[in-house]
Amino acid sequence: MDLFEYQARDMFERHGVPVLQGLIADTPEEAEAAAAKIGGVVVVKAQVKTGGRGKAGGVKVAKSPEEAKEAAEKILGLDIKGHVVKRVMIAEGASIDKEFYFSVLLDRSNRTFLSLCSVEGGMEIEQLAEERPEALAKIAVDAVRGIDKAKAIEIAKAGGFGDDLVDKVADVFVTLYKVFVEEDATLVEVNPLVLTTDGKILALDGKVSLDDNAEFRHNDRHDLQRDDLDPLEAKAKAMDLNYVKLDGEVGIIGNGAGLVMSTLDVVAYAGEKHGGVRPANFLDIGGGASAEVMAAGLDVILGDPQVKSVFVNVFGGITACDAVANGIVGALNTLGATATKPLVVRLDGNNVNEGRRILAEYGHPLVTVVETMDEAADKAAELANK
Ligand SMILES: Nc1ncnc2c1ncn2[C@@H]1O[C@H](COP(=O)(O)OP(=O)(O)O)[C@@H](O)[C@H]1O
Ligand SMILES: [Mg+2]
Repeated sequence: MDLFEYQARDMFERHGVPVLQGLIADTPEEAEAAAAKIGGVVVVKAQVKTGGRGKAGGVKVAKSPEEAKEAAEKILGLDIKGHVVKRVMIAEGASIDKEFYFSVLLDRSNRTFLSLCSVEGGMEIEQLAEERPEALAKIAVDAVRGIDKAKAIEIAKAGGFGDDLVDKVADVFVTLYKVFVEEDATLVEVNPLVLTTDGKILALDGKVSLDDNAEFRHNDRHDLQRDDLDPLEAKAKAMDLNYVKLDGEVGIIGNGAGLVMSTLDVVAYAGEKHGGVRPANFLDIGGGASAEVMAAGLDVILGDPQVKSVFVNVFGGITACDAVANGIVGALNTLGATATKPLVVRLDGNNVNEGRRILAEYGHPLVTVVETMDEAADKAAELANK
């Protein structure tokens, strides 16, 4: 899970990383009030999970609460690389002397942690890595030893810091590494880390990715997530369903990630013959496809206005096909008139004949039972293209 900048800022503050005040605002009026509360020069910053906000007009300096309000009016609703701004952060303005770059991340291919550091910060790191790779130090960090003061000094020197600053920034690196470990992050990036005109080191922009596998160790994660999930994703998550929104028209429900992934492929393939329709989502209802789970899954998928048809592809295993069929019947009964989109069902595996019999007997006008996965994908694509 990636954090918004304001969430990273709050996290940094809790761990003692030097940051400036920051308050969030969802309306221009809230932005004005936040700026008045902070006082002085503030910076209004778009809260979207993508970099390059500055260049895209998503970071604006405001010298008064009125200016902050005007800046928020311009930034809220802005589309930055496909992310629409719904919230801004009002940050205390810094008087910047120099901008630096620091990050620590999980380096999967080398099975270690890696720290990147440069005295040339501010611009996007991809650009720096391409244009002046020699200015970007890449230092492997041993997971056991971590970044202690000595290691931090090594990193700072490799990044090009002079003797006047090495000690100061090294202390901040040690603290940022503490954030990385204690929060179970896979990335902690500060760009820019700045030296202010009065000689302080501050983290002005933070990017943090957390390892979802460690969620159970952190009871504050729930609130972080609720902030940006799309409503359907939030609904699916609340019901423990693995749901991913895609941008096509055929809703897909399957049991098991492998089956769902291959279903995406056959639907995309079949869609080529039917006006280029594509999968609208990925929904894995897991092993126990009970009536409740099926109803919850259908409810999520039918709630997506982009969905034109639904393909239910289930392989009966421990949960046999008759139970799945009863699940579909129960789901359609529960949903009643709210179910309006055609459903193509392919069942196979344990007790398939009984499953098919139950659906045939039910005879719901929206349900088409098809025997093979390819034929079912074809049918679902055809219906989505109508
Ligand atoms: N609180 C602040 N005070 C002064 N300048 C800032 C502040 N926050 C950001 N900036 C300036 O805006 C630039 C871009 O902001 P940043 O937060 O890094 O967004 P992004 O990386 O998405 O462009 C920074 O490099 C810095 O020069
Ligand atoms: Mg930045």
